[in-house]
Amino acid sequence: MKILSVVGARPNFMKIAPFINAINLFNQKSGIRNSESIQHILVHTGQHYDDQMSKAFFTELGIPEADINLGIGSGSHAEQVGRTMIEFEKVLQSEKPDWVVVVGDVNATLACSVTAKKELIKCCHIEAGLRSGDITMPEEINRLVTDRLSDLLLTPDRMAAENLRMEGVPASKIQFVGNIMIDTLEQHIETSRKLLIKSIIIENILDKGMAIPSIEDEHFGVLTLHRPSNVDDKDILTNLIDFVCRKCDQGLVVIWPMHPRTHKRLGEFNLLDKIKATPNLILTQPLGYLEMLRLNMGAKIMLTDSGGLQEECTVLGTPCLTMRWNTERPITLTEHGGASILVGNNIERITKEFEISLTKKRTPHRPELWDGHAAERCLKAIVEYRE
Ligand code: UD1
Repeated sequence: MKILSVVGARPNFMKIAPFINAINLFNQKSGIRNSESIQHILVHTGQHYDDQMSKAFFTELGIPEADINLGIGSGSHAEQVGRTMIEFEKVLQSEKPDWVVVVGDVNATLACSVTAKKELIKCCHIEAGLRSGDITMPEEINRLVTDRLSDLLLTPDRMAAENLRMEGVPASKIQFVGNIMIDTLEQHIETSRKLLIKSIIIENILDKGMAIPSIEDEHFGVLTLHRPSNVDDKDILTNLIDFVCRKCDQGLVVIWPMHPRTHKRLGEFNLLDKIKATPNLILTQPLGYLEMLRLNMGAKIMLTDSGGLQEECTVLGTPCLTMRWNTERPITLTEHGGASILVGNNIERITKEFEISLTKKRTPHRPELWDGHAAERCLKAIVEYRE
């Protein structure tokens, strides 16, 4: 069997790493000469290309170098999706895989699932069935189209499987396998624990001249922002930053790993000087996986609009304010046992929940099948698939 899997952007890397490990393990078990062994090809669309957004993850997660890099780069959604489809079609025509495996909800997920089905190749979507219900979110479009087309829909939780059933997907296409990203967390948590917060800051801080505030008892918050709905609107971004700066002025240290999109917007909106002048607010370049995991393990509070961080906060028990009005991952919300609360970008709501969250104790929670073995179940579902 020949499987071609696709990565494009940062959140894909931690989902594909355990899947590749599962293939390697499968091949070791079945023996190299065995006709049952799996030939695997990794395609990187190149949507994320900076070392800190891409290469660093390959290195630390032990992902082999991509066999093929499409070099798509940045651009509008149509440009990214269009260019990916044109290049990916050529790859499929020469490689002729039995399966294309896509993960998550980025533009690569959409472009490659559509191309695979037009080439009459079976497609498997890992992390299927997530729905925010918000069609203004580019990822929601990617999820809907990919799930509509895929032959095998592997879901991280039972709510996701239920979403698919409600959309009329036949039960035979859906398998609940658990959360593959938690496989990566499990594999790396002990290595990550050994990292020192101070060293992470020193190695990644953007303003090398800044006096680093002391972080007694690891009393710090972490902030990440990158969704267009938060960072592309000047008023929304300004209000969010005013809030964070106020909290830093009052004494909380906040570490902010900066996404390139956000960095660009802060420059355009003339907000960088205010941020740089705020004591206790530490800006860093995008962090590696292990570094981010270490910050999450120590943080008193996470402020984020990232989907993956909501999940990691749930498993680690870090109180998380999700700066969005909806989530495709309701299982991470406190009402379902998770650690996350939706606060949107309403400053009153953020302030209220922020104060409450700071008094909360860390309460780790494991949703069903978030057990570090999802990748094996994904591969088993593909190997045992019958049309
Ligand atoms: C993409 C995903 C989003 C995911 C996020 C994680 C889609 C629709 N969105 O959003 O779901 O949560 O990745 O980061 O696929 N840039 C660089 N270097 C890079 C990559 C990007 O400087 O290596 C800059 C460019 O200015 C680019 C901007 O960041 O225009 C946005 O990048 P893009 O890949 O378009 O989307 P993300 O916001 O990263």
